[in-house]
Amino acid sequence: STGYITYDPGFVNTGAASSAITYIDGDAGILRYRGYPIEQLAEKSTFIEVSYLLIYGELPTEAQLADFTGRIQRHTLLHEDLKAFFSGFPRDAHPMPVLSSAVSALSTFYQDSLNPFDEPNVELSTIRLLAKVPTLAAYAYKKSVGQPLLYPDNSLGLVENFLRMTFGFPAEPYEVDPAVAKALDLLFILHADHEQNCSTSTVRLVGSSEANLFASISAGINALFGPLHGGANAAVLDMLEGIRTDGGDVASFVNRVKNKEKGVKLMGFGHRVYKNYDPRAKIIKNTADEILGKISGGDQLLDIAKALEETALSDEYFIERKLYPNVDFYTGLIYRALGFPTKFYTVLFALGRLPGWIAHWREMINDPQTKIGRPRQIYTGHAARDYRPLSER
Ligand code: SDX
Repeated sequence: STGYITYDPGFVNTGAASSAITYIDGDAGILRYRGYPIEQLAEKSTFIEVSYLLIYGELPTEAQLADFTGRIQRHTLLHEDLKAFFSGFPRDAHPMPVLSSAVSALSTFYQDSLNPFDEPNVELSTIRLLAKVPTLAAYAYKKSVGQPLLYPDNSLGLVENFLRMTFGFPAEPYEVDPAVAKALDLLFILHADHEQNCSTSTVRLVGSSEANLFASISAGINALFGPLHGGANAAVLDMLEGIRTDGGDVASFVNRVKNKEKGVKLMGFGHRVYKNYDPRAKIIKNTADEILGKISGGDQLLDIAKALEETALSDEYFIERKLYPNVDFYTGLIYRALGFPTKFYTVLFALGRLPGWIAHWREMINDPQTKIGRPRQIYTGHAARDYRPLSER
């Protein structure tokens, strides 16, 4: 009746931290941000509006959205010394460690906004991250391709600005393709939060020691890097390209997965929570069809992905294990069509997940009840025993 979900007093806390940000029903395939179904937000909202919703708990009014957008735009520039930071990395450095290092370095440039209990400082750090992480991500890309950095152009929206800094050149004007910006905005909405997954739990755990917001987000970026988590979107492309190299033989790849050949998994399939189709995967698949459908002559990797999905969804092995496509299965194909190199896909995941991480950190820091703090363990080692001198070992 209050419009909020509450638990009966008998609810036994399994040690997970409570949160009011995102609700998932893994069996029913439901995902809601602050109560709003992901399908409605994907269709009607924008990434910057969803970022506001996740962080402040309500959809913004026109004035609130204009103020939020304006405050972010004023902070897109990096300190010139931070730009020099990039020259220290090897050219072929993976952009994820570059991004996590640069985000951590932000706490050395903004020592005035580190106190986790000073509301104006936390607000300033929030805006600085939302504004500067897209610039840092674009710079990590430019570094990897040996091209000059572009300053932000604040006449553009958040996503358009990122695309221009990533793909633009100082020597010529760069027109952002509205279809590309719309597709990327949608993907960022779908990645914006997902309850207490590996990287979000990392942000909450690091923040529970009262480490500042920059340090906590940097830790979350490192957790996301793993191939079982955010790194899966790139691993899906590697998998599809491997199948293409082997002549597109989907059936033989599926057999290798079922035989549990070492290191062979159906990447982009399965989920710790969803034991049904990931609702985000459904939306992304339609976008993939739309974007990739425009490619003349079709897209062989998309055909392989669809054949793989069809085979897996009709195979007992995957059905009994409740393995369905997750958010990462089609995402990589879209990022590839938008012109991003494979090793950049997880950076795009981090850009989308940033507002969710920030929202969880702010919720945790202000509500001791939701702090993970220090999980206990079940000890399975030796019982007490006495020390034996080297001569007796
Ligand atoms: C993300 O938590 C989140 O919310 C994460 C995320 C988010 O938005 O933050 O949704 C983003 O991380 C999505 C997941 C991306 N990862 C991948 O696509 C990598 C491939 N998926 C798997 O590694 C795996 O499915 C997990 C880790 C995602 C989930 O594993 P589960 O549900 O804990 O399942 P499990 O490891 O206990 O395996 C159960 C069975 C096992 O077989 P048996 O031992 O019972 O015979 O299913 C098998 C596993 O071998 N299995 C797979 C498989 N995933 C599980 N077999 C083949 N391919 C797979 N992908």
